[in-house]
Amino acid sequence: MAVKWTPDLSVGVKHIDDQHKIWFEKANGLFEAGKARKAKEYINTMIDFLDEYTKQHFRDEEAYMEKIGYPEIEAQRKAHASFIENLTKLKSEYNESGGNILVIINANNMVVDWLSNHIRKMDKKIGEYAKTLGEIEK
Ligand SMILES: [Fe+2]
Repeated sequence: MAVKWTPDLSVGVKHIDDQHKIWFEKANGLFEAGKARKAKEYINTMIDFLDEYTKQHFRDEEAYMEKIGYPEIEAQRKAHASFIENLTKLKSEYNESGGNILVIINANNMVVDWLSNHIRKMDKKIGEYAKTLGEIEK
């Protein structure tokens, strides 16, 4: 099944939502490549794209939290760091397995569930906090 951002994942801050949408597109690209059993080099490029984008997104999200003085920024930083660690592990497991595509296919749910839960449980609170400051972006 294709991985997609859905409106119930909206945190109410436009630039964060926009990045989350792109993140889902990149994750989808990786898993589609996995299902299509693309070559190892290609899969590695897709993992690198996802990894780079994830890091950029977390940096931007953390900068925004700093800007608005979000009180739970430390918990966010920790969650972000552990997710990045998981992506790094995924990449090494894939390469250590000699490019076993099952590693990628099996990681699909883990990666997407993690981010969806993180958005629902943690990122939405950023939007709620921003709202109390009148920080509404359109
Ligand atoms: Fe976050």
